[in-house]
Amino acid sequence: MKVTSSSSDSGTIKLLQITDTHLFEPADGSLLSVKTLDSFNAVVDAILQEKRLFDAILSTGDISQDHSAQSYQRFEQGIAPLEKTCFWLPGNHDFKPSMTSVLPSTQIQQAEHVLLGDKWQMVLLDSQVVGVPHGRLSDQQLALLDQKLSEHPERYTLVLLHHHPLLVGSRWLDQHTLKDAQDFWQVVEKHNSVKAVLCGHVHQDMDVMHKGARVMATPSTCVQFKPNSDDFALDTLSPGWRELELHLDGTVSTEVKRLPAGCFQPDFNSAGY
Ligand SMILES: [Fe+2]
Repeated sequence: MKVTSSSSDSGTIKLLQITDTHLFEPADGSLLSVKTLDSFNAVVDAILQEKRLFDAILSTGDISQDHSAQSYQRFEQGIAPLEKTCFWLPGNHDFKPSMTSVLPSTQIQQAEHVLLGDKWQMVLLDSQVVGVPHGRLSDQQLALLDQKLSEHPERYTLVLLHHHPLLVGSRWLDQHTLKDAQDFWQVVEKHNSVKAVLCGHVHQDMDVMHKGARVMATPSTCVQFKPNSDDFALDTLSPGWRELELHLDGTVSTEVKRLPAGCFQPDFNSAGY
């Protein structure tokens, strides 16, 4: 599978990340009092208003909150106006049989490996461990990453997965991290082509360098988790998304954007999630 650059002048790849939508079968389904379909649609509307060109959309898991096939159809309908292929992978809340039920005849792709223009590739990993909130990469997933890095040593690599492969400094969220993350980083270190790692799951903006890669997490399109909190805590920041540009020299420009302040505030009395 290949995504080509629409920027004929620069050849860069422009990506849009929309993550952790937590959609439900009913249109008015809510998570911690935020109607997740409304906040997701508001994010898509805000992106459309920017009139920016993107080459592909990335959705890094927790697309559904209730496992229903309809929740995935709502996602598919919601991103349709963006008119670009969307690559998705599962998070801890996703139900793979329902995900695959909407794949035929849609703009959504469930790929493991995608060539991005002439200089980049993307590897999409499945870190889901069924029934628990933390993540782990199976031997098969680690082998897939190793294989793609070996096959395309000349390409810069963007790795996508749901769970955060670095601790974010929030005790309750870090219990739900990617377990055995050192196995992942060992594969990354074996090659030196991974320039970016992109995840969801933590419902907050993270952007740090680790082992030569830019490691990024992105706000959810619904509720936000408060950074650096030992216990469960919600943030007052609005739903958001991330825009990325992969340059021909292996560098990445990126920006997190959000809806205007005060939008879709959750119930701050919630004790957990
Ligand atoms: Fe998650």
